[in-house]
Amino acid sequence: MTFSPITGAYPLARPRRLRQSPWVRDLVAETRLSPADLIWPIFVHDKDKARDPIASLAGVDRLSIAEAVKDARDARDLGIPAIALFPNIDARLRSDDAKAAYDPDGLIAQTCRAIKAAVPDIGLIVDVALDPFTSHGHDGILEGERIHNEKTIEILIQQAIVQAEAGADIVAPSDMMDGRIGEIRKAFEARGLGDKLIMSYAAKYASAFYGPFRDAVGTNALKGDKKTYQMDSANSDEALREVAMDIEEGADMVMVKPGLPYLDIVQRVSETFRVPTFVYQVSGEYAMIKAAVEKSYADHDKAMFETLLAFKRAGASGILTYFARYAAEKMK
Ligand code: PBG
Repeated sequence: MTFSPITGAYPLARPRRLRQSPWVRDLVAETRLSPADLIWPIFVHDKDKARDPIASLAGVDRLSIAEAVKDARDARDLGIPAIALFPNIDARLRSDDAKAAYDPDGLIAQTCRAIKAAVPDIGLIVDVALDPFTSHGHDGILEGERIHNEKTIEILIQQAIVQAEAGADIVAPSDMMDGRIGEIRKAFEARGLGDKLIMSYAAKYASAFYGPFRDAVGTNALKGDKKTYQMDSANSDEALREVAMDIEEGADMVMVKPGLPYLDIVQRVSETFRVPTFVYQVSGEYAMIKAAVEKSYADHDKAMFETLLAFKRAGASGILTYFARYAAEKMK
């Protein structure tokens, strides 16, 4: 994009002319937000309870499969194009080899089938990663202290196939193993799943803002950090290399995560590659806004819409956000 900053000089130029009333501000707005920009992350659980509130994520519940189907229908009716599923499974089903991740009758596979049967026209995104299924909460298979890249990919491939065959339209690998996009893409081609989309969490940073999510999926016992696989927040060029690799390996869409602290990355990725670039306003970002509002430090809707618009302004094609349903209702 080329932009000439030449505007003329005051008083011939008065930028305030374009701000003097709502209609003219509307007329010249460079960025717009609509429900079609939103992806709604939803948590499902295997407890005998329709809705289980998540303490650190005000207004977000873990859902039974039946409730998830209802929310999927609401999303569709509100014009939200897609939902993203995350599981919280019983601790007894978690293991070091994460075998519940590819159970064709597991919680996620069952939820996919139920949603696709009832609401076939919602886009269904499922996270490919092992952390909700491992006993230790890491996104991979441990060998000693290290996450083993190739052993982990073997499981991720099976997980992605189970999800896709259960009806997921988009698989979204969030694990940050090297080479996993290519291996999943090859496995899909070999099994007649060539139409399935891959949204790669390509530039995912080791972040302090994932806390409430770990509470939601029950991995808060995690020891240590994820710095040997998730990115260092000091780095920007490295994000471009990660994205380039994932596109080359067959990703259809890429993601930057978290959102607000990494708007520069969203902008660089979208301007460099011109592929659909998504951003995840993560649990800690959502919780921060909720906490500020609770203390009366900010107005809820204004703070929410300002952040969502910021993602669009930075170049995001869409935003994963826990505000999705509420924001879409407000925009109606
Ligand atoms: C795990 C995963 C995480 C999130 C999405 N997938 C957490 C993590 O990497 O520890 C975070 C989402 C959020 O905080 O809202 N593979």
